[in-house]
Amino acid sequence: LAVSGRRLRVAILGAGTVGREVVRAFLETPARLQPADGSPLELAGVAVRDIARATAAGIPARLLTDAPAHLVGAQDVDIVVELMGGEEPARTLVAAALDAGRPVVTANKRLLARHGPSLEAIARRAESPLRFEATVAGGVPILAPLASDLGANAVTRVRGIVNGTTNFILSAMAHAGRSYGEALAAAQAAGYAEADPAADVEGQDAIEKLVILARLAFGAWLPPEAIPNQTTDDDGAAGPPGIIGVTAADIVAARAAGRTIKLLATAAPAGGVPGSIAARVVATAVPVDSPLGRTSGVLNRIEIDARPVGQVAFEGPGAGGAATSSAVIGDLIAIARGLGSTWAGLPEAGRGRVVAAEHEAYLVGPSGARYPVVD
Ligand code: HSE
Repeated sequence: LAVSGRRLRVAILGAGTVGREVVRAFLETPARLQPADGSPLELAGVAVRDIARATAAGIPARLLTDAPAHLVGAQDVDIVVELMGGEEPARTLVAAALDAGRPVVTANKRLLARHGPSLEAIARRAESPLRFEATVAGGVPILAPLASDLGANAVTRVRGIVNGTTNFILSAMAHAGRSYGEALAAAQAAGYAEADPAADVEGQDAIEKLVILARLAFGAWLPPEAIPNQTTDDDGAAGPPGIIGVTAADIVAARAAGRTIKLLATAAPAGGVPGSIAARVVATAVPVDSPLGRTSGVLNRIEIDARPVGQVAFEGPGAGGAATSSAVIGDLIAIARGLGSTWAGLPEAGRGRVVAAEHEAYLVGPSGARYPVVD
């Protein structure tokens, strides 16, 4: 998309927690969407499931449609922002927009994690920018920095707390002595949990984010279903997935050992085989007095170990409409400035293979759950 003074018209698909905030930015702070060195952005329309509800939420009726395919194909739409979530119809709509040469911005981590290779192929073939900063860690800029500012590095490990809901729950259990159920209800009331909390608490949401991080860090699309969300015991029996087996007593026992429990997503190249990555998302015992241990509530923190830079870390609000809209709008501005896809100058990614992490020490809680111990 050539950068010019011409206005670029933006179609937004979905007006949920994030979509409403992006629409609000267009309506209330349009100057933020006019980069000094790029094309000004303006709102062409918003596709929603329920027009009456969107109108009640303050979106002018003249902007609304319940026909997303029609909006994506409209002659006067230049850029598509997909904030519907889920695999379909999002995949079909995003693929159609890219295929037609239209840049796409999406916050849909499931879409990228499960259809990344085919969408990347379409975007590259059609030379349509695809940007997806909001898919990982909400408002925290991590993907574009990995691809661009850290592009000179060989990444040796990516790890982090990338799910705000589970971190909110674990923090409430550790600091306020809440039960798991009370803490989950509070996370849902605050609007952090996905509609189906299983995706958060069983680790699927974090797995999808790890797939996207690994694509930028290691140049390989990992199959999400191959990334473990459970630890296994010596006989190979799997424990509970994600954080659902973590008890208040386990957290107290970890504390007595100077540790706290976090849902940690980790990926690192393994065995010197290109595309082979040791990856997992499991409840992990980290030092209580460490940057990861101190990452509380809905905050996310991602640590990148790389040569020659050493370790750099990114921390900030990992969920919530306002924070996530920052990443979506940042991607829109990047497109208006002609900056291309999130993967910037990196080569096309192939498919990767997940291998098991090396054996390590465990902390065994009173519940019997096993937590890998890391520093
Ligand atoms: N449910 C997700 C989280 C939202 O809690 O991190 C942001 O991806």
